[in-house]
Amino acid sequence: MSEDIYKEIILDHYRNPRNKGSLSNAEISAQDNNPVCGDRLSIDIKLEDNVVSDIKFDGEGCAISQSSASILTEMLMGKTVDELSKFTKDELLEELGTPSLGPARIKCALLSLKVLKMGTYQYLGAELPSDSDN
Ligand code: FES
Repeated sequence: MSEDIYKEIILDHYRNPRNKGSLSNAEISAQDNNPVCGDRLSIDIKLEDNVVSDIKFDGEGCAISQSSASILTEMLMGKTVDELSKFTKDELLEELGTPSLGPARIKCALLSLKVLKMGTYQYLGAELPSDSDN
């Protein structure tokens, strides 16, 4: 896909976020912020038989962080907890079209993945690996 198409996808998700909101009694729930800018993000996930049956995100921030979260929620629907824990930054960045993103913007894009990993590992009762956004 061309760079313009990726930019359009990001803007579309920013203007019309998918799965925005919160879930009560979510099995997986986490939030964090980008310490550089203060932008924040939360993700709630409901599970059925260890599979994502509903997912919502909420937050405030730049177009990249918010659209990345919106895109991530679409990618995670129907995945198992094991798949959530193994989801890689490359999978997300590929969907976002990162050749057009610089290092600062990559941090914005990965905020949603960081929150996902925090919540998933907390749910599993496991320690978050130091390279958890890989
Ligand atoms: Fe804050 Fe992008 S500028 S997450």
